[in-house]
Amino acid sequence: MECKSSLILLCLSVIFTEVISTQDNAKMCPIPQPLQPLARGMTEAPFKTLLNFSCDDGYIMIGANSSSCLQDGTWSNPPPLCKAVNCPLPLPPRDGRIVHDNTVSGTTTMYGQGWTYECNPPKAPSHERGSCRADGSVTEPPVCREVSCSAPTGIPNGFITFAVIRPHGYKEKVKYACNEHYVLDGNPDIQCQNTGNWSAKPVCRAPCTVGIKRGRIFYNSRKLWIADLKPNRVLHEEHVAFYCLNKTERCGYPVNSTCIDGTLALPECFEEPGKVEYNLKAKSLPSEIQACATSPPASPASPTRPASPA
Ligand SMILES: *[C@@H]1O[C@H](CO)[C@@H](O)[C@H](O)[C@H]1NC(C)=O
Ligand SMILES: *[C@@H]1O[C@H](CO)[C@@H](O)[C@H](O)[C@H]1NC(C)=O
Ligand SMILES: *[C@@H]1O[C@H](CO)[C@@H](O)[C@H](O)[C@H]1NC(C)=O
Ligand SMILES: *[C@@H]1O[C@H](CO)[C@@H](O)[C@H](O)[C@H]1NC(C)=O
Ligand SMILES: *[C@@H]1O[C@H](CO)[C@@H](O)[C@H](O)[C@H]1NC(C)=O
Repeated sequence: MECKSSLILLCLSVIFTEVISTQDNAKMCPIPQPLQPLARGMTEAPFKTLLNFSCDDGYIMIGANSSSCLQDGTWSNPPPLCKAVNCPLPLPPRDGRIVHDNTVSGTTTMYGQGWTYECNPPKAPSHERGSCRADGSVTEPPVCREVSCSAPTGIPNGFITFAVIRPHGYKEKVKYACNEHYVLDGNPDIQCQNTGNWSAKPVCRAPCTVGIKRGRIFYNSRKLWIADLKPNRVLHEEHVAFYCLNKTERCGYPVNSTCIDGTLALPECFEEPGKVEYNLKAKSLPSEIQACATSPPASPASPTRPASPA
């Protein structure tokens, strides 16, 4: 539930524990007006009904956390209030400053607000983020110290661009690229972090070979014979469709497969034509006969018959 105000009931959750009252002389307890939106249409509750209250995260309860319906039709406790948590303003690090996510006015911050610590370059903060916590405390200021990330190392099937091979300071960046036909997966830039470690390096994903000798595929919006795929290479995450035969309907349908880092699995339903069939009866291949009206739901390609990596 939306909970914005600082001292209201709407930041409250209520669990109703209902009971079947067997006492005829017991009165019903009217549900207090502010709780009615939480009561799913009920306006009164029977004797012994228990209400358990809890405040949203970042709100402190003022009052009792439960209330029960008494025999005389009154509640044992009034509903509590939920008061928004405030924190004192955070302290900046020595040799540094705080940059608040949102502008702060006054002498307090509210629960959920956050900020970033910065140090005078080239120093780096021991931790970068701080916030006002649900219990009203704030993050301790970090220590500013010099960090150095070791000289960046290469990646398989890729290389470093525009960088000098030397140790780097906080927030310095190094860029990677991949060898031809390899596809970069991840962020091409790495950054020297406040821990003295680099952020994660990208990975170069290998192209695939389409592992059939005979047959027709659908690739790059074109239906082509495998011999016409020159060179026989598809890139990481590219799709290739193979044609399968529906034996009952005598029709053909395409089944997609995707090149994943050097592996292009052949669909389980795909049967590579023999040499004779291919030369003499090419017109009867699933790719050449009538296309099925509705393809079955795309069956996952079998990983048991992978094509050889390029
Ligand atoms: C309500 O709180 C009481 C104790 O205060 C507990 O015994 C009971 O299990 C709670 N009921 C629910 C539904 O959480
Ligand atoms: C409710 O308050 C009582 C004391 O008043 C406490 O013992 C109990 O743990 C509280 N229950 C919850 C769910 O906070
Ligand atoms: C770098 O990260 C590893 C764990 O990923 C950690 O053990 C190591 O202490 C970190 N290096 C520095 C300088 O903080
Ligand atoms: C099959 O691959 C083509 C591209 O060749 C793509 O547009 C289509 O969305 C894919 N279909 C499925 C079901 O993955
Ligand atoms: C063959 O086509 C029929 C009719 O469209 C369909 O019900 C059946 O599932 C298909 N069989 C295969 C193996 O695709």
